[in-house]
Amino acid sequence: MTTPVAAYDQSVSGDRAMTASNERSPNHVAIIMDGNGRWARKRNLPRVAGHQAGTNNLRRILRACVDQGVKILTLYAFSTENWRRPEDEVNGIMRILETVIERELDELHRNGVQVRHIGRMDRVPVGLQEKIRFAVERTRLNERLILNVALNYGGRAEIVDAVKAMLAAGLHPDFIDEDTISRYLYTCGLPDPDLIIRTSGEYRTSNFLIWQSAYSEYYVTDVYWPDFDENELKKAIEYFKKRDRRFGGVTR
Ligand code: IPE
Ligand code: IPE
Ligand code: MG
Repeated sequence: MTTPVAAYDQSVSGDRAMTASNERSPNHVAIIMDGNGRWARKRNLPRVAGHQAGTNNLRRILRACVDQGVKILTLYAFSTENWRRPEDEVNGIMRILETVIERELDELHRNGVQVRHIGRMDRVPVGLQEKIRFAVERTRLNERLILNVALNYGGRAEIVDAVKAMLAAGLHPDFIDEDTISRYLYTCGLPDPDLIIRTSGEYRTSNFLIWQSAYSEYYVTDVYWPDFDENELKKAIEYFKKRDRRFGGVTR
């Protein structure tokens, strides 16, 4: 069976990467799920209600990704900077994430979803850590869609961790190139994202996949994450299909 990674290798080989538009769906989509707080504020609800509403989105987005031919979905759930938020909100988010894994794991597994985690585990509550490890282990042989959850993730922290790991492995500078660095990132073995979607209208990376996004297409929508549905995803993918990805070259 073709793995998602092998499928990607085929998609970037030869002339395909240089055609005027992609026409095809992105292989790897990454989403900065932003705007939960503003969604709640608009309804006079506490911010945590926005985070809860944001998780109700996951099933339809996963289903839509499979329908659209997406093979890898990376979701930015919590950044290394999000610990700066009030304790109540952080605890609320962690609790919600735990509940989501409990609620969704059987369904994810039944649907052939492989769960992965990128980020640092250190500050994550132990109960949530255990749930994540269990979900990753249970689904590791699934191949329909890779769901890569960025939790306590920071692009800079990821690069720091990669440099530390390279030094610890005793790598000689002469043998370090871009591929070496990619292999030492949390995303080791995964292709770079083709399309990065950010909801809620902010035009910034907020420390998300800063190495891997060198040639990603960006799509920003004003829609808040809890309102982002399959139609919004379709719009983002249609936009992607019209992009002329030149990778520094010239379109023929
Ligand atoms: C994104 O929504 C979720 C997390 C960062 C955990 P926000 O909570 O950032 O929502 P806004 O940006 O305040 O509206
Ligand atoms: C980015 O959103 C992090 C996640 C969506 C998990 P933030 O809301 O934390 O980003 P900033 O603070 O507006 O840049
Ligand atoms: Mg935000």
